[in-house]
Amino acid sequence: MLAPTALPPASASAAARAGLTFPKGFAWGASTSAYQVEGGATADGRGPSVWDVFSHTSGKTRDGGTGDVAADHYHRSYEDLDLMRDLGLKSYRFSISWPRVLPTGRGTVNAKGLDFYHRLVDGLLARGIIPVITLFHWDTPQALQESGGWENRDCAKWFADYASVVCYSLGDKVQTWLTLNEPKTVVEVGYTAGVHAPGVRDRRVANVAGHHLLLGHGLAVQAFRATGRKGRIGAALNLSPTYPADDSDAARRQTILADGEENRRWLDPVLLGRYPDDWLATQSPDAPVRAAIHDGDLAVIGSKSDLLGVQYYNPAYITATGGRVQKHPTTQASWQEVYPQGLYDLLTRIKRDYGDIPLTITENGMPSVHATDDEDRITLLRDHLTAAHQAIREGVRLEGYHVWSLLDNFEWAEGYTQRWGIVHVDYATQQRTRKASANWYQQVIARNGI
Ligand code: FCB
Repeated sequence: MLAPTALPPASASAAARAGLTFPKGFAWGASTSAYQVEGGATADGRGPSVWDVFSHTSGKTRDGGTGDVAADHYHRSYEDLDLMRDLGLKSYRFSISWPRVLPTGRGTVNAKGLDFYHRLVDGLLARGIIPVITLFHWDTPQALQESGGWENRDCAKWFADYASVVCYSLGDKVQTWLTLNEPKTVVEVGYTAGVHAPGVRDRRVANVAGHHLLLGHGLAVQAFRATGRKGRIGAALNLSPTYPADDSDAARRQTILADGEENRRWLDPVLLGRYPDDWLATQSPDAPVRAAIHDGDLAVIGSKSDLLGVQYYNPAYITATGGRVQKHPTTQASWQEVYPQGLYDLLTRIKRDYGDIPLTITENGMPSVHATDDEDRITLLRDHLTAAHQAIREGVRLEGYHVWSLLDNFEWAEGYTQRWGIVHVDYATQQRTRKASANWYQQVIARNGI
């Protein structure tokens, strides 16, 4: 639970926010993920993931959108690399498609799949852009799903084996690794609401999958170390600062519980090697997650992380009955709530409660309905960067910022109806066009500030 802060409101004049310089070497970046941009769904031996199956199931995505082609980045990576260079990006966060490298999730490596990522990394390095690789951005190989997926404890081990292959192969060129992207979303949207792949609607099963995801994170950290490669590894967590919706004691109590579910349930195991007691207490005595937590698991999950990826899209306001209300404007993404000060609260809270682990913002952004004239996105990005800057001034070790997203792309269950890119993609022609926000971001990067 956090006290609101006194940052200038989002409506503060541009002048009040102008002239903020970021630390030397700040990693100005952009993010994408494999299934959302690559396309090439069956190219060069790629196997299916749960998202191929889910998106091809009638009624699961808006207008039946799939990632079959997406932004066709698999075939246009050189053009996209030049685009990144022209923007002046210092860092590019992307994910590796597990079934492109291991078509059935384990066993024989698909050399052509791995080669794609070698070429991409070489292209980034040749352009002076730091590669930041996410190992799991939700595309569990379908063959593993058929063996139980993340409900099966073995999946953590399969993930670590895959991590070992990739980290060893690319580890002489790549220095920054992220294990999981947003395990909370997998648990809540993929396994509880069933709106994302694999489309399960069972809270009890979801928490088991959540534990196995965390175990996979820990085993992947250990697998990375075992490769002997130099570099840093950590998780990328979506976090939401929680605030009471009113000043009742009941709302305050519920807010602490909600903070457990939103934040501490992920941060504590990864950074402190334990589950929060109050979160565990919410699990009934016969909850299957209790049996899923074996002796020694938390020590594995708490294996030392070198950095933390922070993804921020919204705060959470909690009512006296534990419900949620929105207090700030939303966007085309109804779950989003625009409250830039929440990012400041979140970053300073991580430092206060978890110490000085280096942080990088791995996602932040919004969908805009404007094709290229996306002034709304510029305002949002600038306000969040202002909040991030204040946190840096107060001693938070924030090393970088990655806007979600570089390109318009496949937005999961929303298909192609939400455009999150700073670069517009015409899906009929695959033509890329910079939006106003891309031009603005280029200037921000060039002057290392807003
Ligand atoms: C995050 C996901 C990312 C993208 C943005 C809008 O939850 O990690 O892939 O969909 O939301």
